[in-house]
Amino acid sequence: MAKLIVANWKMNGSFTKIEEDLRTYLHNHNTNVKNVVFALPNVYLGLIKCLKIDASFKLGSQDISKFDNVGAYTGEVSGAMLKDLGVDYAIIGHSERRMYFNENEDILIKKINNAINNNITPIYCIGESISVRKNKNYKDFLLNQLEVLTKTNIAVTKAEIKLVIAYEPIWAIGSGLVPSTEEIVEVINFINAFVQNYLPHAKITALYGGSVSKINAKEILDLPQVDGVLVGGASLLIPDFTSICSYKFE
Ligand code: PGA
Repeated sequence: MAKLIVANWKMNGSFTKIEEDLRTYLHNHNTNVKNVVFALPNVYLGLIKCLKIDASFKLGSQDISKFDNVGAYTGEVSGAMLKDLGVDYAIIGHSERRMYFNENEDILIKKINNAINNNITPIYCIGESISVRKNKNYKDFLLNQLEVLTKTNIAVTKAEIKLVIAYEPIWAIGSGLVPSTEEIVEVINFINAFVQNYLPHAKITALYGGSVSKINAKEILDLPQVDGVLVGGASLLIPDFTSICSYKFE
């Protein structure tokens, strides 16, 4: 199965820079690469449609409103609006949003349901802090974050639902620190076992994220348990990201 590679551009770029970077990526990448997602800042998601960019990649959002209706929700962007712009994936529960926007279980459940209801695949992020990792209770912590999924429509539907779960240890994000391959595999196996037990209708894609670079990407992507990577900083450097995306596609 081709691996899924997601670029999380966070709050970076400008209209000109993003257009230029996407065109450079499209010019240089291997045209066989189908499973690449660019999660652009919301305000630039419409650029692909407006500029009629012939994209071989998928579009992702970095967030989605918890509200599922049109109406008086100043500043919000709904799932339907994102779908209208061609968005297929939404990052939900990234540690930066949990930390800076106090996204709690109730909010995350609504966002996941809003994504699913609009045919957008959630990229649900989980990950522990360094103190939790050191206290060795990271599995309980991660279990708690996974249990949110059992309170969403994913748990009740009878139809097959696509779900991406990204393991992103907070201590690895933007730090240059990466867990050992054994540590990554341990958590990915834990995620897969959880999904098998509690979300039998979910078609799971399990990603690793946190300081993925063009140097370490191959080793991580070579792990059969890992279905892909979520890339922050290195995805902003188009030559680096193109090199990550060229994994096994030559
Ligand atoms: P990083 O970010 O690759 O810069 O560590 C990953 C992320 O936050 O998704």
